[in-house]
Amino acid sequence: MPTQKIADIKAPVSTLKSELQTINAEPIGIFDSGVGGLSIAQCINQHLPNENLLYVADTLYAPYGEKSSEFIQQRVNEIAQWFIERKAKAIVVACNTATVNAIDQLRKNILIPVIGVEPAIKPAVNLSKNKKVAILVTKATAQNPRFLALVAQYSQNSDVIVQPCPGLVELIEQDKKNASECKLMLTGYLQPLLEKGVDTIVLGCTHYPLVKNLINEICGNSVVIMETALPVTEQLQRQLALHQLINTSNNLGTTSFYSSKCCATQQALFNHIWQRPLQLNSYP
Ligand code: DGL
Repeated sequence: MPTQKIADIKAPVSTLKSELQTINAEPIGIFDSGVGGLSIAQCINQHLPNENLLYVADTLYAPYGEKSSEFIQQRVNEIAQWFIERKAKAIVVACNTATVNAIDQLRKNILIPVIGVEPAIKPAVNLSKNKKVAILVTKATAQNPRFLALVAQYSQNSDVIVQPCPGLVELIEQDKKNASECKLMLTGYLQPLLEKGVDTIVLGCTHYPLVKNLINEICGNSVVIMETALPVTEQLQRQLALHQLINTSNNLGTTSFYSSKCCATQQALFNHIWQRPLQLNSYP
């Protein structure tokens, strides 16, 4: 049987170059249990405008915050597989709940870069004058050992209060973020924190930036509110550069939107948040 030398099977440089460009034009998969991850997708789109994005909202199974770790892992693996079938070059887990519950096992199973969302506890603790910080999270995040270990790491010299906010994601998904029941619910979660002297609040769920104005209104200007969209975008950019995956095209990238509960109400909610015309497609 004739043996083939490595030199024989090497592709010409021009082919390799064009293959690399093709890879770089492949999309970045971004997902969340619903519309929360759009707060991250918007930031990525703004800072990396040439990248092609695929956004999946797993709305049929939202909220993840009320689900078990096993269930979340199963959903995350299924969505990641779908991205890989669409040749995604990187995946952004635009969900705190999915990050703490499923990112470690996901990273073990796939080879492309996986970027997660970590709540900004460290910068919050550094910034807090009173050394009293609160993190707003879902129930599943509040109970997660990986998350609690992160909190413990920063709790030595500061009071770090974990505040679960059950029901809030549901209201945001129902586009009720301006309704009085949303303000009432948030006041119930925030008032006790303000009474304890908290001066810095970390948004530990990607849905919560969508009600940031309301949180500001309840807490007043003296309380600092911290989000994670920019650090996540910067981490994505670093990972793409490290793996030579930046799309070098001068053309603006496209963003495609998918939902596991694709319907007219979802389409309206997406339009409302994205504030540009878009077509919502059915996932899978
Ligand atoms: N947006 C998500 C997060 O960051 C999940 C919310 C949920 O589905 O409960 O935690």
